[in-house]
Amino acid sequence: MTFSERFELTAATPAAPVHAPVPAFAATSFATAPAIALETPADIPQREALLDLAFGRAARLAKTSERLREGRRPAEGLAFCAHGPDGRVAATLRLWHVTAGPARPALLLGPLAVHPWFRSLGLGGALMSTAINEATRLGHGAILLIGDAPYYERFGFSTAPTAGLWMPGAFERSRFLGLELVPGALAGARGLVSPTGEIAAQPSMSELIARESAGLAAPAAERRSA
Ligand SMILES: CC(C)(COP(=O)(O)OP(=O)(O)OC[C@H]1O[C@@H](n2cnc3c(N)ncnc32)[C@H](O)[C@@H]1OP(=O)(O)O)[C@@H](O)C(=O)NCCC(=O)NCCS
Repeated sequence: MTFSERFELTAATPAAPVHAPVPAFAATSFATAPAIALETPADIPQREALLDLAFGRAARLAKTSERLREGRRPAEGLAFCAHGPDGRVAATLRLWHVTAGPARPALLLGPLAVHPWFRSLGLGGALMSTAINEATRLGHGAILLIGDAPYYERFGFSTAPTAGLWMPGAFERSRFLGLELVPGALAGARGLVSPTGEIAAQPSMSELIARESAGLAAPAAERRSA
């Protein structure tokens, strides 16, 4: 059974009532499994809350991978959410443009998080398969990530393609993994992984002052990079 048979892969995000309480729902069959879709701006507040739940806010923002994501936009067409039966965000995965050493375009994968209610149902795997398939279809050559090798090896990731690469901060080499989508895309890659994604729009000073005067906080997506 393929992931698309197990999980509905849709191009549009169902309406997600951001402020609705999450019902106590336990997925017990694929008939009620979350649907994977491209992320939309409406998903971002719930995505942020899910990441805080999965990793802890301070810990996730301190990650070295975050230095490659902050202030950037994710790669076009490569930010995914899975939505539960009520339309709320149940899982998230994004990919980001980087260069793996000089002039070596690649994608950085992460964060990947599945809400505890939906874990061990194959949803993380479905998101990974969707991301890898879409990145391949869009012509990307390679994916890098920092994560647990015992989980990511099943998708073909290993430490071999990253042996000559460094992250811009502390990292464990045993968790620095790569996957070539195009054979040889990371062959001989050597140097620092650096961000190359589009710079995210930041609110102007006058917008920030106007919001503060009106008693409105900046949207989470603008307070910090995703
Ligand atoms: C890791 C995570 C995304 C997996 O999502 P998921 O939907 O449960 O994944 P799947 O259902 O596709 O796979 C579940 C399997 O992966 C295993 N697994 C989960 N996390 C693992 C890990 N860190 N290392 C090794 N195996 C892991 C589970 O034990 C399970 O094994 P089983 O199928 O033999 O029972 C989810 O547990 C999560 O969000 N964790 C918190 C955030 C996190 O750690 N993200 C990844 C950063 S490395």
